[in-house]
Amino acid sequence: MTKLAVFVSGTGTILEAMIHSGLEISLVLADRPCRGFEIAKAAGIATELVERKTYGPDFDRAAYTREVMAALEPHDIGLIAMAGFMTILSPAIFDRYEGKILNTHPSLLPAFKGENAVEQALAAGVKTTGFTIHVATSELDAGPILAQASVPVEPGDTVDTLQERIKQSERRVYPETIKKLMSKASPV
Ligand code: GRF
Repeated sequence: MTKLAVFVSGTGTILEAMIHSGLEISLVLADRPCRGFEIAKAAGIATELVERKTYGPDFDRAAYTREVMAALEPHDIGLIAMAGFMTILSPAIFDRYEGKILNTHPSLLPAFKGENAVEQALAAGVKTTGFTIHVATSELDAGPILAQASVPVEPGDTVDTLQERIKQSERRVYPETIKKLMSKASPV
C-alpha cells in the first residue's frame, strides 16, 4: 500500500476533508506550526514539523528542501499531496519523488499562477475560476493536470468568499483524485 504524506502550512481544511474521506495518511509535514499540523496530531497521524527559520532573502531553499527530504525518508513515503503548503521546494525533491508529488492550486491553470491566485482572478474580473489538481514539478504551478473544476465568481465576492467556494469543491475532488492514484501508484 502506497504511503501518503500531506504537506500543510495553514488552516488545513483540505487535510481535514482528506481525513474524513477515509484516506489513509501516513504522515503530515508542516513548514510552520499551524492548525493543519494540530489537526494531524489530534487525528493520531505521524507528524514532522520542518520549521522554516526565515522568510527573508537569507532563506536557503536547497538546505531546507534537504531537511524536508531527510524528515520524509524514515516514513517510506510513496505519494506526497501538498495541501496549502506555502514553501516552494528545490528541484531535488521533485527528482527524488518524480511524478509522486501532487498539488492543488486555486485557479484554472495555466491562468493565475502563484501565491495570490484568487486575488488575481478577482482583479481580472473573470466570471469563472476554479482549481487544478496537478502533478507538481520544479516549475511552480505547472506539471501534468489530473483534475480541474470550475467555480463561479459571484457579484460582491471577496478573496475570502471566493476562496471558500473554491475550497468547498477542492475538499471533495482532491481526496477522490488521490484515492484513484493510490490504487495505482507504486512506491518510489
Ligand atoms: C487551497 O485553496 C489550496 O488550493 C491552496 O491553499 C488552500 C489550502 O487550504 N494551495 P486549507 O489550508 O486546506 O484550508
